[in-house]
Amino acid sequence: MISELESQEDFRRLFTIFNEIWGAETLSELISSLQNTKCALAKSDTNEVVGYVFYDQDERGFTEITDFGIDPNFRGLGYGADLIVFVCAISTEVRLSVKEDNMAARQLYEKIGFKEIQRIENYYGVGFDGLRMEWKKEV
Ligand SMILES: CC(C)(COP(=O)(O)OP(=O)(O)OC[C@H]1O[C@@H](n2cnc3c(N)ncnc32)[C@H](O)[C@@H]1OP(=O)(O)O)[C@@H](O)C(=O)NCCC(=O)NCCS
Repeated sequence: MISELESQEDFRRLFTIFNEIWGAETLSELISSLQNTKCALAKSDTNEVVGYVFYDQDERGFTEITDFGIDPNFRGLGYGADLIVFVCAISTEVRLSVKEDNMAARQLYEKIGFKEIQRIENYYGVGFDGLRMEWKKEV
């Protein structure tokens, strides 16, 4: 199930997952994201938050995914794909950046129909290139 941030318990789970994936030093980014971007949550059958996506969207439906992650205990179950499919369904175009060596995320995006449009050298620090990927709604 895809949901908005609805309760303190949702926030507690989001905080835990974000901290586990990216580390405590990035929690200020979480706070900033919650203030500035849209958020969709993936929830399990028991209504527990298991993952999130942050995205910006303009009035034409052009969307930039700024952050995305699934609780390590709930990976490989389709929740990540569910979140990205949800964002595509409410967009005309979706773009994102991904670390070149993040094969799990790249394969997920490619499976949904994202194409690589640009490589940015050292985007994630020296020696860590980034890929820009794009999905477009078929007309
Ligand atoms: C990338 C991530 C979000 C995937 O979430 P997930 O819920 O486990 O992914 P799904 O179960 O929906 O998988 C969908 C498809 O993605 C691909 N995929 C997912 N995990 C994969 C892995 N470990 N290795 C290779 N492909 C993988 C597969 O094609 C999979 O389809 P399949 O199950 O039919 O083979 C998760 O691994 C994660 O949170 N990683 C850390 C944060 C991160 O990298 N975020 C992305 C930043 S750009």
